[in-house]
Amino acid sequence: MTKQPTTWSQRFESALHPAIVRFNASIGFDIELIEYDLTGSVAHAKMLAKTGIISDSEGEQLVNGLEQIRREYQQGLFVPGIDSEDVHFAVEKRLTEIVGDAGKKLHTARSRNDQAGTDTRLYLRDQIAQIRQQLREFQGVLLDIAEQNVETLIPGYTHLQRAQPISLAHYLLAYFQMSDRDWERLGDVSKRVNISPLGCSALAGTTFPIDRHYAAELLHFDRVYDNSLDGVSDRDFAIEFLAAASLIMVHLSRLSEEMILWSSHEFGFISLKDSCATGSSIMPQKKNPDVPELVRGKAGRVFGHLQAMLVVMKGLPLAYNKDLQEDKETLFDSVKTVQACLEAMTILLREGIAFKSDRLAAAVTEDFSNATDVADYLATKGVPFREAYNLVGKVVKTCLLGGKLLKDLTLEEWKELHPAFETDIYSAIAPQQVVAARNSYGGTGFEQVRKSLIAARDRLKD
Ligand code: ARG
Repeated sequence: MTKQPTTWSQRFESALHPAIVRFNASIGFDIELIEYDLTGSVAHAKMLAKTGIISDSEGEQLVNGLEQIRREYQQGLFVPGIDSEDVHFAVEKRLTEIVGDAGKKLHTARSRNDQAGTDTRLYLRDQIAQIRQQLREFQGVLLDIAEQNVETLIPGYTHLQRAQPISLAHYLLAYFQMSDRDWERLGDVSKRVNISPLGCSALAGTTFPIDRHYAAELLHFDRVYDNSLDGVSDRDFAIEFLAAASLIMVHLSRLSEEMILWSSHEFGFISLKDSCATGSSIMPQKKNPDVPELVRGKAGRVFGHLQAMLVVMKGLPLAYNKDLQEDKETLFDSVKTVQACLEAMTILLREGIAFKSDRLAAAVTEDFSNATDVADYLATKGVPFREAYNLVGKVVKTCLLGGKLLKDLTLEEWKELHPAFETDIYSAIAPQQVVAARNSYGGTGFEQVRKSLIAARDRLKD
């Protein structure tokens, strides 16, 4: 019986079981890396020619062949099947068909271990740049709405109980700040993504006189891994990215939760526009916040991928192990999820919701969220804060029993409670004043918010 050719060496006597071929293959998903694989191989071929490991003409043939594969792929003419095992074998096989024997020289001084690591880093570097760009767009929309709403008041909450009124802009700027840290964090992760493992070879380096720095420079890596074992087996960069991606999802999910609550009848702070809301198949009156619900739901997948990669890595002996192939799907799915969620949330904010200003204005006048301001009022008149706090607690209780709000008390009633109260108590507890007065650095006072808006606009220039 003639021996079935396998992808690997002649050491193998018989072919793989078909189910194991499928189990082992990564081509079904790592095809996503093909452009990066080609780019990495072009740099490797150029390096081989520069160092004289292959001739200049061989180098040229390889580069031309690789670029032809790129064109074929882009035109849908190159569709490698499962027999190629992974994207690296698929490209090498096609290259040899195109350029003949020279194609067989491409893998000199290289292994799929450093190659896969190189491709993944090139891919992630690009995706991170795109996500950072998307974060900036998202921040831009937050800022656009915030600038229009400095003096729009909304109830501020702690424990989901009305606490103190705040400026809507202040609320939106909180998400701006979170996204800004996300943007920064990804920039930081990029520094550790942008290190070249190319030339670490299988695990120990190579006997050929390669120039790793030259290849790294061609690929715009900042530096190279200084230890070949570390270079082929490190996935810290992927885990760091997944952690940064998880935090983006935490932030988007918290915002989503608020959009969902606020669009409910009970809150009624926003309405959903038709372009971003969906209906029910049975209840004709319904308009559902599917976009933020999906974002909130999808956060779970990204957290799961982070956890999966931590577990994949924790017991791995050095250096490469096939377990590392599991990095691809976790990264691809996380990248796509974050990108899709950022896009959807940017659209939702830009055109999918409207703040109901009447409802918001009413909301901040119908409760006791100005109670702290009564205590502050007394404290500025010399009453120790804790004493003032206890007194206001009693006032709130009395009001609640009498079905009144603080603003409904007459001046006599105020004075009965404490002689320090004057007519200016009414302006002190008016919602607009309550917000304006919180003028401490980083607070919701309008002056602070206006300063923050200017700083935030400036930040977007980075
Ligand atoms: N498809 C593999 C991966 O993504 C490529 C590296 C395979 N290396 C090996 N020694 N089998 O990890």
